[in-house]
Amino acid sequence: MEKIRLDQELSLAPVTIGMMNLLEWGLDPKELSGRLHEYLGLGLTTYDFADIYGKGGCEALFGEILEQEPSLRNKIEIVTKGGIVYDTLRRPYFVSESYNLSKEHLVSACEASLKRLKTDHVDLYLIHRPCPLMDPAEVAEAMDKLYRDGKVRKFGVSNFLPEQMAALEAYTGIPLLVNQVQMSVKCMDFLADGTQEDALRRKIPLMAYSPVGGGALHRADVSRDDLETIGVLKEIQEEIGAGNIDEVMYAWLYRLPVTVIPVTGSGKKERVLYAVNALKYSMTREQWYDILRVARPEHVSRKYHDI
Ligand SMILES: NC(=O)c1ccc[n+]([C@@H]2O[C@H](COP(=O)([O-])OP(=O)(O)OC[C@H]3O[C@@H](n4cnc5c(N)ncnc54)[C@H](OP(=O)(O)O)[C@@H]3O)[C@@H](O)[C@H]2O)c1
Repeated sequence: MEKIRLDQELSLAPVTIGMMNLLEWGLDPKELSGRLHEYLGLGLTTYDFADIYGKGGCEALFGEILEQEPSLRNKIEIVTKGGIVYDTLRRPYFVSESYNLSKEHLVSACEASLKRLKTDHVDLYLIHRPCPLMDPAEVAEAMDKLYRDGKVRKFGVSNFLPEQMAALEAYTGIPLLVNQVQMSVKCMDFLADGTQEDALRRKIPLMAYSPVGGGALHRADVSRDDLETIGVLKEIQEEIGAGNIDEVMYAWLYRLPVTVIPVTGSGKKERVLYAVNALKYSMTREQWYDILRVARPEHVSRKYHDI
């Protein structure tokens, strides 16, 4: 599989393995190591974490593998994120997520991730979410320190709108190499909020998280609207020769002009491979629009419907 080049020094696999639910996959360290070797054999070298996944437990379990097999480290790219905090202690009755993009927090969050992952650096560090209290100069200082200390090779952001990225960029000379956002047939905000155009202008890929909508179309209680979407996905599955509707959902993302790196969430190898299989399908403009129309008709103008 051809890697996707972010810059002269860092390339990622065309499909990233999302590790958010690692603790729910039910793999012990030996099984996880076996899975990792299978993935590496397939060219799946990129792994996506955040400090908050499993309250640090996902990074820690992966770190156990790296500690046992240090030679794995140079064969993979580790992506992790920081900036989300849970304010549970101050008001225990009001469990809430907030963001802390202070220099102190970002530096210590990244250092804690490195400790859990048992590595001295991560390949790509993402600011997990934008924060209304973000002082871009402080974030820039944190990035600069982490870079100069050799703890982070490259940086990016996640869930940032174009203006939020531009605000941060105005304060740092360090390039932001990716934006990781929610993108799928179930979540098309990126088409309407300028995210795709911004990535095209910057010539950077979008990392698509929840690329099959968190499995929403496979639940027993799907809505009537979702049933209609599933119907169209199945028709297009037949037309393009895909194995299932998940492959069609990945092909829909790959049809975009922007480079998309899906971040899969499944703990099942065969479901991760749907993202790889879909790299070979081509989808016509008409098929792409059929899916857009059924899944999010408001993106297609009335005039277009009438044609
Ligand atoms: N940057 C951010 O803010 C952010 C936010 C959320 C996630 N992420 C990243 O994105 C990754 C993927 O997110 P996601 O988990 O929402 O992605 P996803 O790939 O859209 O969804 C994966 C979930 O859907 C289920 N699923 C997939 N195919 C299925 C099928 N055919 N039948 C039944 N269930 C199916 C999986 O269950 P099984 O495991 O049983 O297959 C899993 O629970 C995360 O691991 C994380 O790395 C980033």
